[in-house]
Amino acid sequence: MSDYFRKKVHSEEIIATFNDILILPGYTRSIDIDISAKLRKYHFNIPIMSAAMDTVTEEEMAIKMALLGGLGVLHRNCSFEKQLEMCQKVKRARSFVIMDVATINIDASVKEAKHHMEEKGISGLVVTNSENKASGIFTKRDIPYSETDIREGKVRDYMTRDLISIQPGVSREEALEVLFKNRIEKLPIIENGYLRGLITKKDLKPEFPLASIDEKGRLLCGLAISPKVPESLQLQNVLKKIDKNVDIFFTDVADFYKEMDIQGIRKLMELVESDFVLGNIGTYKAAEHLLTKCDFVDERILGIKVGMGSGSICSTSIQTGVGAPTLFATAQVADAIQDYNPNIGLIADGGFANPGDLPKAFSVGADMIMSGHFFAGCTESPGYIDTIQGRKVKIYRGMGSKEARTSNYILDRYVEGAKTLPEGVSDYVPYVGPLSGVIETLTEGITNGMIYAGAQNIEEMKSAEVGLVSAVGIREQKPHDLIGRYE
Ligand code: XMP
Repeated sequence: MSDYFRKKVHSEEIIATFNDILILPGYTRSIDIDISAKLRKYHFNIPIMSAAMDTVTEEEMAIKMALLGGLGVLHRNCSFEKQLEMCQKVKRARSFVIMDVATINIDASVKEAKHHMEEKGISGLVVTNSENKASGIFTKRDIPYSETDIREGKVRDYMTRDLISIQPGVSREEALEVLFKNRIEKLPIIENGYLRGLITKKDLKPEFPLASIDEKGRLLCGLAISPKVPESLQLQNVLKKIDKNVDIFFTDVADFYKEMDIQGIRKLMELVESDFVLGNIGTYKAAEHLLTKCDFVDERILGIKVGMGSGSICSTSIQTGVGAPTLFATAQVADAIQDYNPNIGLIADGGFANPGDLPKAFSVGADMIMSGHFFAGCTESPGYIDTIQGRKVKIYRGMGSKEARTSNYILDRYVEGAKTLPEGVSDYVPYVGPLSGVIETLTEGITNGMIYAGAQNIEEMKSAEVGLVSAVGIREQKPHDLIGRYE
């Protein structure tokens, strides 16, 4: 960030937002741009997260975000049981080894096997005998042609008996070699005759080379959490199960600069083992406090998420008069991170209206960005496509809206105990089709912004020159002096 902007933000206390600044063009050495990001040990090929909101990120969005190289943060406006289910689905979506393999008994009918495959949307089943030992494989190709044979035939009559299998603990490369040598698609893992897992060619050679994965090749999973240890033992036990399926917990409160939340997280970190991103906060002072006064900020704290009140569905600033717009919050917290602990990552959350806002967030210090607005209208977001005046739309609601707060799960995201003051709104956004298209546009916005700014990676982008724009300049940035469709 330029000293010019730093001075403006700090000495004059201008609470600047995205439209207040522009990045100045810089010398471009090359157009070979790396937009990948890191949060300690985690690597992301695209620096983008989808927001933990119930109209944005459930398992479908989380799976696609991770497949495309970012991260979907699952929301918390539901029970722990539902959260567990969502996390398990993300973790099982693309694993190099499938653990819960679909099987069929050798004496089952072909009809049953066919139904089983159709229901699960899979192309093959491992056949087990009466001792539960693996004795063959039955795939769609083994289904007989005639309806009578399907009805009356037994799996044992049509299955492939010469089972090519592999021992547990096999490497990716070894498995690929066996699959290729034998020209097969599925490779059961068998130990002493018992089935231990399944490797499929599809999972070994992913069609998503940029996917965000853990060390076992499973998709990374992020989950929103209240910064509090649940009171009942039963819920604590569910949380421990969730913990096994999550890589990163995101504390999900509007304002984390609070003694009780800080104490809560300290206890929570003792109960679970996964990593954490803390947030949201919005000022240098809040970051300074977390980084210097909280002894729990160690290797497991990957980053801080910032921004308060500038999201497209937010009304916190209007309702309470308090806020820290994302650009300002990012610039402030980036300074504190640089001053006290440069290993901590920074996520700029909300308020992005145009692709060009993303490079701006990186230019003032963000490592990654989070948005709900860009993704709520995607095919992969929860909810149905509706039509309003001939336009396809989907519902997008703030987690502090009246509608979202009809459940109890999210009440402590804002000021606990508040009953009547909504801090968000519910509305429609245009349906924009599959997430892949939106991600393509956003990554192009980041890449091209970095090319113009003369930065080859996110780290270099953090030192891009930025300046404040006058009110007149803000008007002139937009298309202008046309017939008027842009106003
Ligand atoms: P965008 O701009 O992407 O912002 O729509 C998404 C971010 O806004 C936060 N959020 C809220 N803030 N009231 C608020 O003040 C709300 O009801 C609300 N719901 C979500 C959240 O940080 C999200 O990532």
